[in-house]
Amino acid sequence: MKVLVTGGAGFIGSCFVRMALGADDPLSATAVTVLDSLTYAGNRENLAPVEGDGRLTFAHGDIRDAALVDALTPGHDAVVHFAAESHVDRSIAGAAAFVSTNVGGTQTLLDAALRHGTGTFLHVSTDEVYGSLAEGSWTEDHPLLPNSPYSASKASSDLIALAYHRTHGLDVRVTRCSNNYGPYQFPEKVVPLFTTRLLTGGDVPLYGDGSNVRDWLHVEDHCRALFAVLRDGRPGEVYNVGGGTELTNRQLTERLLDACGARWDRVRFVADRKGHDLRYSVDSAKARGELGWRPLHTFETGLAHTVAWYRENRAWWEPLRERVAAVAH
Ligand SMILES: NC(=O)c1ccc[n+]([C@@H]2O[C@H](COP(=O)([O-])OP(=O)(O)OC[C@H]3O[C@@H](n4cnc5c(N)ncnc54)[C@H](O)[C@@H]3O)[C@@H](O)[C@H]2O)c1
Repeated sequence: MKVLVTGGAGFIGSCFVRMALGADDPLSATAVTVLDSLTYAGNRENLAPVEGDGRLTFAHGDIRDAALVDALTPGHDAVVHFAAESHVDRSIAGAAAFVSTNVGGTQTLLDAALRHGTGTFLHVSTDEVYGSLAEGSWTEDHPLLPNSPYSASKASSDLIALAYHRTHGLDVRVTRCSNNYGPYQFPEKVVPLFTTRLLTGGDVPLYGDGSNVRDWLHVEDHCRALFAVLRDGRPGEVYNVGGGTELTNRQLTERLLDACGARWDRVRFVADRKGHDLRYSVDSAKARGELGWRPLHTFETGLAHTVAWYRENRAWWEPLRERVAAVAH
């Protein structure tokens, strides 16, 4: 299979590429083209473990560049679309890039896939499109009720992608995944932010009273779900992907403090995020039943390995901490 991976230098996209070119060979990949504009969140270093692989081509460019996308798309059997502005806090500070990349960029890619008869377009989305819920879990047919500019832009792109299936018959598949954690995550997101601060003697900012609930999934388990959707998913279908580990931010902080050998005096409570969604929870029964997918990492071992990775890979994240400060909103 020849795959075009947008956002393949980011956190999840690079994991997908490393696994696709790894020993398990989940896609029988003969070529992987990464299209990435290397925003502050993109990093060629994330692809270092597979950089010498002859099947990998890196294209430095923007998914909104219609001419470039049109030139790159032919010859690929599938597009796996990760590229996005992905940080909720940034979308609150300024939404323009989120709408432009997440909505306009997705439409540019869909047009090219349609024009060139690409076999499958896998749109990687998020559970945040459903909004917030107090109890129970969302199934795939739940209405989309996004609250932040980030999740609204992702919901828009989901709907545009599905419209290309219904209108044009393009084989579009959508996944909606819960919060990912793991190695190579840019240190503005809560797990690497807290871990790197705790490892360097700093304090950590906890929003509000820390009662917001998120469901956590190891990034490799997310990518395994994506391989399963590419192999066995059906055109026009949406698949929820969740870890089944729901934690309040307070509980998550406690686990990270323990893993880093730190105490609660390192935690600073800060004003809550505007419009902070209380709880996300997806029902992954469809992916489990139809695709035979299930997470392989338990949260306990996954988090322990993740913290160990940040402990051992300071050379990867120390330069990025300066980048976080430079692009702080
Ligand atoms: N991180 C999570 O917990 C999570 C959960 C569910 C879904 N998702 C979705 O998965 C995808 C990847 O998320 P991530 O956490 O890896 O994000 P990330 O911010 O780490 O990576 C995004 C990548 O996209 C690239 N990019 C951004 N704008 C671009 C543009 N205009 N043209 C080309 N490349 C561009 C960046 O350079 C970066 O490499 C996103 O679509 C996100 O909505 C993320």
